[in-house]
Amino acid sequence: MMAPSYRIPNLLSGTAGPSYNSKLMGTAKTDVARRVRQALTRMANRQALGSEVSDQTTSDDLARAARGYLGDAQILIASNREPYQHVQTPSGIEVVRSPGGLASALDSVARATGATWIAQGAADADRLVCDEEGRVRVPPGNERYTLKRLWLEPETRALEYRRFCNGCLWPLCHIVYVRPHFVAPRWRAYQEVNEQFAEAILSSLGARPGLVLLQDYHLGLCASALRARRPDLSIVMFWHIPWPNREVFRTFPWRRELLEGLLACDLVGFHIQYHATNFLDTVAQELESHIDHERFAIRRRGRKTFVRTYPISPDAAEISLAASEPWAARGAEQVREQLRLGDAQVVLGVDRLDYTKGIPERIAAYEHLLENHPELRGRVAFIQIAVPSRVDLPEYQSLAVTVEELTARLNRRFGSADRPAIHLITRNLGFRDLIPYYVLADVAVVSALHDGMNLVAKEYVAAKVQLDGALVLSPFTGAARELDQAIQASPYDTEALAAAIGRALTLDPAERARRMRAMREVVAGQNIYDWARKILRDARRLHLVSGAPRPGASR
Ligand code: G6P
Repeated sequence: MMAPSYRIPNLLSGTAGPSYNSKLMGTAKTDVARRVRQALTRMANRQALGSEVSDQTTSDDLARAARGYLGDAQILIASNREPYQHVQTPSGIEVVRSPGGLASALDSVARATGATWIAQGAADADRLVCDEEGRVRVPPGNERYTLKRLWLEPETRALEYRRFCNGCLWPLCHIVYVRPHFVAPRWRAYQEVNEQFAEAILSSLGARPGLVLLQDYHLGLCASALRARRPDLSIVMFWHIPWPNREVFRTFPWRRELLEGLLACDLVGFHIQYHATNFLDTVAQELESHIDHERFAIRRRGRKTFVRTYPISPDAAEISLAASEPWAARGAEQVREQLRLGDAQVVLGVDRLDYTKGIPERIAAYEHLLENHPELRGRVAFIQIAVPSRVDLPEYQSLAVTVEELTARLNRRFGSADRPAIHLITRNLGFRDLIPYYVLADVAVVSALHDGMNLVAKEYVAAKVQLDGALVLSPFTGAARELDQAIQASPYDTEALAAAIGRALTLDPAERARRMRAMREVVAGQNIYDWARKILRDARRLHLVSGAPRPGASR
């Protein structure tokens, strides 16, 4: 969810003159001093946090493991959404990190492994910074890997990404009572885009051996196209969203083709066992195949596909360290002042503005709480950060309107001009902007109706270094399996969710700290580098990576 934003100079501006250079040298000196100060503070914080941070798997550990496991094989990550977008602004080209858990989590992996990342170029200045093959080194200022952008026809992209991926596969897999639209031309656009991704991956790889890490539901058919041309490739798909039960999946007209696409992978990963089991059940129902329940694998037409679970987590150490820096506490105080929160307790929600996230349900529960507990009015402030998302789909537009309306109603009922009951912030916040909100919040509410994992829950826990926060968590998130010390409540049950928020606000500090400590252990012991390392380790252990082309498709 976190999206650090960087400002870079306009890459198209003219040559630098002398005054520019001298200014730059002056800046360089202060920059060095600032970096030294920052490094010292970080060291002190690292020491203060002790083994909680130092025992965690690091980016260097992952880099070493990748070299050991993969030998010469090249790592290619492919996803619909690019990790960084170059956008035009009045002051030049600006780089922003894409919202959503996938982009931020995989960015850490790409940085550590130096993988090549292939994704659609979609922002208005994306082309301007790339070479003729669509490549640009990222992140800006600290270039660690190559992002190769794929240019799609706007018409195709509209049908494939907006209409098919987000209007069909997304509601189908989340089962949240938003009807998926099954429209044949959109499906054909999806097929076409998957072919184009395969093409880009193959041209990037050349004749070298490779491990392709496909990410998410946008690329469900890519492995078939790859396999047809390069049977030797090792292909892993990580499905970041839920996999529905077989009854729901049966309504999907192109179910067999999608399953064939996934079974062209050597390994398919999910966040939790429930989704992996749903997947196996679906394959058993739809395709003639042999399901090996012992090894959790599917054999079909002489090929074997392993199915495994890898619960994803953020870079917890990085978040904990940031949250213990003085700027984070200062930022929290600034938010308190700017929003005139006084000494109110703070409840926080951070989400993409998506109907799966349960934002209206959360506001309704909070309203119920204030209705029944007048003593809380004016003493609690709710901050909802809602990052605009998929804004050209009607379902998302009407959600935005609903959230605005619910906010206005709540403020009419229980807020005053200088003390709104709820603050709605509808923009994307960067890493440094978001951390202070986590530090500030006494309670975070994650009320997703269905979510593969939900990284916001884990980010909040990672940021609570003082143990002074409570998490209210929907049982329908993957995160709820691991964070069993959160206060769990169903977003479909307004009273129960209201009671959970009330309980979180009044939790005894010792109990709150005990729960937070337990959750922090979970998040620290399973960070993003562990996630990637386990996938790479399995790719080797299950003999998926040979380091050299394999003779044929069957094993
Ligand atoms: C979810 C999906 C990701 C997606 C992200 C943001 O986390 O699993 O694949 O990138 O939402 O959505 P967007 O449509 O903006 O890429």
